[in-house]
Amino acid sequence: MKQLIQKLVETVAPSGYEAPVREVIRAEIAGLVDEIRVDALGNLIARKGKKGPGGLRIMLSGHMDEIGVIATHIDENGFVRFSTIGGIYPIHCVGARVQFLNGAGGVIYMEKPDAPDKVPTIDRMFIDVGASDRASCPVKVGDVAAFVRPYLELGDRLVSKAMDDRIAVAVMIASLKELKSSPHEIYFVFSTQEEVGLRGATVAGYDVDPDLALAVDVTRTGDTPKGVKMEVALGKGPAIKVRDGGMLADPRVIRWMVAAAEKLGLPYQMEVLEGGTTDARAIQLSRSGVPAGCLSIPTRYIHSPSEMVDFRDVQQCVKLLTALVSEPVKLE
Ligand code: CO
Ligand code: ZN
Repeated sequence: MKQLIQKLVETVAPSGYEAPVREVIRAEIAGLVDEIRVDALGNLIARKGKKGPGGLRIMLSGHMDEIGVIATHIDENGFVRFSTIGGIYPIHCVGARVQFLNGAGGVIYMEKPDAPDKVPTIDRMFIDVGASDRASCPVKVGDVAAFVRPYLELGDRLVSKAMDDRIAVAVMIASLKELKSSPHEIYFVFSTQEEVGLRGATVAGYDVDPDLALAVDVTRTGDTPKGVKMEVALGKGPAIKVRDGGMLADPRVIRWMVAAAEKLGLPYQMEVLEGGTTDARAIQLSRSGVPAGCLSIPTRYIHSPSEMVDFRDVQQCVKLLTALVSEPVKLE
């Protein structure tokens, strides 16, 4: 599974440009599902099983896009000005490296700051792509890039850019591989454009029209020095979302998830997140509403180029997700 994780996180595929990672996923799941299609927004929608007696149509959604940058202007010396795709913090940018879809690399730096310890805003930063004038610049206005940083293993801790949300993609693929039988019709949706506003899941939720939905996504932790006050920690098991900045998870879904974790004897954590949200919000509000929740993978340093997860949590998320969709579901 670690090999698959590495392959997924190292693929450059920011929001709206998910094709490279979609092909990696498609190759992994071909032969494991009954139907695969790609919709107009690029969502990869894979169906496993048919809704039988006692079964539901369940939608699982993990987003395959990642945050990135987009070139807005090239100056006469070949320096690239840029804007952001998704939630990029200026503090993570200075000195960071990016890779454009055409393979061109670049390093982000900044104008002379007003004060030496002050991080400037993005509009005062630029990407140096090694060009010396506009004509020879390998990057054109509108080209997009993602952050790059080598994948790293620190014991049980795995570090990379784009763990958000490729680690969930890996969890969904691993569950699909482990799934033996199910009364449910399960849609594994690898969604697009989550980082710019849950856009892929919005249309996929409408299209699939599920009886029940779960997003699989990362959540932050409160276990670093003087970090946010939050109960979730790395290595303490899958997190079951209660609420985030955009949704209250359906209490029946929460109870179903907790009961499954307890039945398996898995550790789990209750997640109350102040900001952010996931595909589950879009699906919950689709059509006339869908019971929805979220299985979260505890992750440190989200939206930095070095997002960190614990491999034991990841494996337990696979176990829990597989069990959840293997048995009949009674929401109560
Ligand atoms: Co994100
Ligand atoms: Zn995410």
